[in-house]
Amino acid sequence: MNVPVDVPVEQPSLTWDGGGVLAVDQRALPGETRVLRLETVDDVVEAIRSLAIRGAPAIGLAGALGVALSAYRHRLDGVVDEAAVRADAARLSSARPTAVNLAWAVKRAIGRLAAGPDAVLAEATAMLDEDAAVNGAAVARACELVLSRVPRRPMRLLTHCNTGRLATAAVGTALGVIIELGRRGLVHEVLVDETRPLLQGARLTAWELGQASVPYRVCVDSAAPAAMAQGLVDCVLVGADRIAANGDVANKIGTYGLAIAAARHGIPFVVVAPESTWDRALADGSGIVIEERDPAEVTAFAGVVTTPADAGAYNPAFDVTPADLITAIVSEDQVFLPAAVQAVQVAQGSPPQA
Ligand code: MRU
Repeated sequence: MNVPVDVPVEQPSLTWDGGGVLAVDQRALPGETRVLRLETVDDVVEAIRSLAIRGAPAIGLAGALGVALSAYRHRLDGVVDEAAVRADAARLSSARPTAVNLAWAVKRAIGRLAAGPDAVLAEATAMLDEDAAVNGAAVARACELVLSRVPRRPMRLLTHCNTGRLATAAVGTALGVIIELGRRGLVHEVLVDETRPLLQGARLTAWELGQASVPYRVCVDSAAPAAMAQGLVDCVLVGADRIAANGDVANKIGTYGLAIAAARHGIPFVVVAPESTWDRALADGSGIVIEERDPAEVTAFAGVVTTPADAGAYNPAFDVTPADLITAIVSEDQVFLPAAVQAVQVAQGSPPQA
């Protein structure tokens, strides 16, 4: 994997660059802005696993570009070794298990394989363009929803992990909404959960909010319920990695606790995610595979071991928030109101399952 240059802050998170994928290295921010040039499927898989590329839409797009890399690499005398490309696609798809966007995007790219590498690449780059448009539409819809649910002006928002342009091709999802509301002068302050253990909030969301001149403070994850109790939060906005048919949402570990606290305080809890994050083949969140990551991410901080040498660690990267704790799930196409759906079910005499 190449690390060639220091890049301008407006560098897109992912681009195709004639035979390679340029990706902002999200591990290095905010201390350093640098791009990686990924030239093989192994490079892409490693970038996804190590979170150099992260965020559900971004890993999907990287996976699709990885299929294009593979198709070009496995072409000899104009003939593509389809079995080899399909094997690479399977490796890309399974680089991380929780975000459905990855398998979705790889499947879409491989669907063009019969038409050749150029067609696969065209599909992958079309997905990059679509992602920006889709996120723009979801952001517009979610802004309206938040404005209708939150009376205070300017408002106080809380977010978790990073759902900005770094996590997508452009615009972002939940963070895109926050930045748009900030641009309209409607945000007093954003509380940014630091998002242990890898600090996507403290490192990446804080960096993006700073770039956008939206006022924010970082807080430790465990401060969020206290902030709600003190009236410092009017609305919680988060993204998603996979959404089951009933509206259960898998997202960064800690999201479930935030939703419980928000419900306790009557604070709207809004999920913003593209339609490609929905997995309607799953009836509910119990079927979502949760990635468990290296215990060393928990037992050390900034490279310094913080636990007894033999300490084990429980390190799920995601959790599942039950639909009934969620005010709304907003995509480019719809505003899904899980609580309202359940209320209708109850009214019709079929109460939701515990
Ligand atoms: O482990 P990460 O950093 O990839 O987790 C990312 C999240 O949980 C995001 O909230 C989610 O992917 C949505 S990004 C628009």
